[in-house]
Amino acid sequence: MKVAVIGANGQLGSDLCKQLDAADLMSLTHSGIEITIMDSVKDSFQKYRPDIIINTAAFHRVDDCEADPDKTFRVNALGARNVALIAQERGAKLVHLSTDYVFGGEDEPRTTPYTELDIPVPANTYGKSKLAGEDFVRQLCSKHFIVRASALFGVAGSSGKGGNFIETMLKLARERDELRVVNDQVFSPTYTKDLAGKIARLIATEYYGIFHITNKGICSWYEFTKEILRLAGLKTPVIPITSDQLNQKARRPRYSVLDNYHLQLLGMDDMRPWQEALKDYLIEKGHIT
Ligand SMILES: NC(=O)c1ccc[n+]([C@@H]2O[C@H](COP(=O)([O-])OP(=O)(O)OC[C@H]3O[C@@H](n4cnc5c(N)ncnc54)[C@H](OP(=O)(O)O)[C@@H]3O)[C@@H](O)[C@H]2O)c1
Repeated sequence: MKVAVIGANGQLGSDLCKQLDAADLMSLTHSGIEITIMDSVKDSFQKYRPDIIINTAAFHRVDDCEADPDKTFRVNALGARNVALIAQERGAKLVHLSTDYVFGGEDEPRTTPYTELDIPVPANTYGKSKLAGEDFVRQLCSKHFIVRASALFGVAGSSGKGGNFIETMLKLARERDELRVVNDQVFSPTYTKDLAGKIARLIATEYYGIFHITNKGICSWYEFTKEILRLAGLKTPVIPITSDQLNQKARRPRYSVLDNYHLQLLGMDDMRPWQEALKDYLIEKGHIT
């Protein structure tokens, strides 16, 4: 089974490359493929004919997406289309990475987890562009797995975001007298190592469709921060604040918890609680023993 990973040096991409069979792996970084340019996508798959393409590439700095919608739609929607067309042409399976941010734009904030059967209503440009990318994938590539994940953390750190939330909080907690963190955005943090493991199992099947894949349990950024600091043994006080106090460019979902319903139906939902995954991450990064 030959597998190509687009965004191979990213946070999820690097964990995927670790968990997939290295002998049959094509690792594509941004210097080797530009998904917004069709010829670049075609060239990349001219010689190497993968059975499976995993597209993790995205423009996902949410406030920057709001400021530059053209770039956002070019990468997240048209880029997804280009990859989907090539996958279909080659008869390859396609794993396309998407996000919980396709949800959360309703007037009445949701209070129960979203399943794959819920109709997405994005709250911001990033979410709209990822939903447009999903639509291209569904229409253009028959053997697709659309994987919606949430609040990713991985040892490589997010390439597009320049690190991840955990590392930022640990650094700030050591520098500042107190941390002020949003308490009205609720989601399921997800370890890229666990997500990569689940994708590795999924691609061996023909269970095509949309999959929500997150670690178990929910929290706000405030609660997530409290647990990060507790596990790391840091005593810096954490003050809960509201999203309105941050004055961010892009509106964020107040609640974007995903239910791994499709995995449950298949008896494949053994994702562990985010607290366990977080502890594992902190050990792997050398923050705790
Ligand atoms: N991070 C999260 O919290 C989160 C949450 C939910 C869903 N997701 C989704 O999960 C996926 C992976 O996220 P991640 O955190 O692993 O992202 P990441 O670390 O930023 O990795 C993305 C990779 O894609 C590459 N890339 C970006 N634009 C590209 C383009 N136009 N052509 C080719 N390659 C390009 C990046 O390279 P360069 O950095 O060198 O440009 C990077 O290697 C994304 O689709 C994202 O939308 C992420």
